[in-house]
Amino acid sequence: MTEGTGRRTFLRAAGSIPLALSFGLLVSPFMRFLRPTIRPMDILGPSDQPAALKDVVYTQADFPEPWTCLPFMFEQSYKEYNPEQKEVRKIPGYAVKLPSGDVVAYSRICPHLGCIFNFVKDPDECAKGYNFKPQGPVFACPCHLSVYDIAQGGKVVSGPAPRPPRSFTVKIAGDKITIVSLEAGGIA
Ligand code: FES
Repeated sequence: MTEGTGRRTFLRAAGSIPLALSFGLLVSPFMRFLRPTIRPMDILGPSDQPAALKDVVYTQADFPEPWTCLPFMFEQSYKEYNPEQKEVRKIPGYAVKLPSGDVVAYSRICPHLGCIFNFVKDPDECAKGYNFKPQGPVFACPCHLSVYDIAQGGKVVSGPAPRPPRSFTVKIAGDKITIVSLEAGGIA
């Protein structure tokens, strides 16, 4: 290799360093665009999806009969780029025993505009207060009168809500009923 060729190779290599750095700096935001739950500058790291702070635990005896409905507060830790590196949010929920014996749980945050909805057991009460007479117990929102049929997986049966409320994963092992996580997505 002559001295001139060696210098050219060196200059070419040196010139490509800024290009490589720019590429590196662009990869992280681009990956966050493709996978919004990864941490900045940590493409291969774990997801920063919210995680439950602690499970909500019941026993079968807490649900003595069909349509027993228990309110609970579910705490989730969200990754935030603040000094604490997290924000804890409390999500109100309802756990309900269906006539089939299954226990289901939903966030009480209305998917319409975020009000907190109620459990309404009596169809006549729902007809009076929410302008709709259902077949059985429902969740009903006092803000714009959306009504959700619990027996049909939270299906919207009246009002402007665009979707059923977000559901929690419920695990049943023997006598123990545990609410472990909330369906992914926005808070409402
Ligand atoms: S916020 Fe519940 S119906 Fe509008």
